[in-house]
Amino acid sequence: MGGAFLIFGPPGAGKGTQAPRLAARLGVPHVATGDMLRANVKGGTPLGIEAKSAMDAGELVSDDLVVRMLGERIAAPDAADGFLLDGFPRNVAQAEALDALLAARGRPLDCVLVLDVPEEEVVRRISGRLVAQNGRIYHELYDPPASPGIDDEQGLPLERRPDDEPDVVRNRYRNVYLAQTLPVRDHYRAAGVLEIVVDGTGSTAAVAERLDAALPA
Ligand code: AP5
Repeated sequence: MGGAFLIFGPPGAGKGTQAPRLAARLGVPHVATGDMLRANVKGGTPLGIEAKSAMDAGELVSDDLVVRMLGERIAAPDAADGFLLDGFPRNVAQAEALDALLAARGRPLDCVLVLDVPEEEVVRRISGRLVAQNGRIYHELYDPPASPGIDDEQGLPLERRPDDEPDVVRNRYRNVYLAQTLPVRDHYRAAGVLEIVVDGTGSTAAVAERLDAALPA
């Protein structure tokens, strides 16, 4: 199908859980700036070293660094027909930078998909999150692995993210998401981009069904 899509929502809304399947359905790559940054931190690259302290504190990494990284990613051949963005843009300056990148491609953002989940639920979800090195996401209660602490597909050990500590989650939600990221929604509304709001509560399968129903086939 192709097209430029954005999955939007607070930390813990289920973006990373839903996006890989959704991207496959849309026929575009899943482009998640958080995953790209964590891969750089793990690999000890100069970019990862620069990003790590902001990420651990739940703050945004500098716009310059993230915009450069994103620009390179969407210039790759597999993104020629579009992409599903997850975690970018995170503030209005990044949205303006994305607008310029998309204008240069001659195709604006097609749709903003909003996963609507209240704060109490995101805190519950993040406090039980476990991640495998291959990016697969679990929850110790809602989506546990078959064997405790081990990834189902590759047997990799599961870890907690350093930014999932309760104090850091509060910072990510209140001082970063509400104050800096939510205005991105208004930016795209004002630009007339299609916004689809999906109830992100309930089971992973129920949310996936709602996303499928909401998106044009
Ligand atoms: P990023 O990785 O983007 O983190 P985030 O936006 O805070 O989003 P999360 O990954 O926490 O949540 P999610 O919505 O993907 O939820 P998930 O599917 O895992 O960014 C991390 C950091 O990188 C930032 O803080 C910043 O420092 C930096 N960064 C990234 N992009 C940047 C940018 N553009 N500019 C500057 N800095 C940037 O689900 C959460 C849990 O809930 C899981 O355990 C899952 O199993 C469970 N779950 C999911 N769905 C359900 C369900 N329906 N029912 C029950 N449980 C569920």
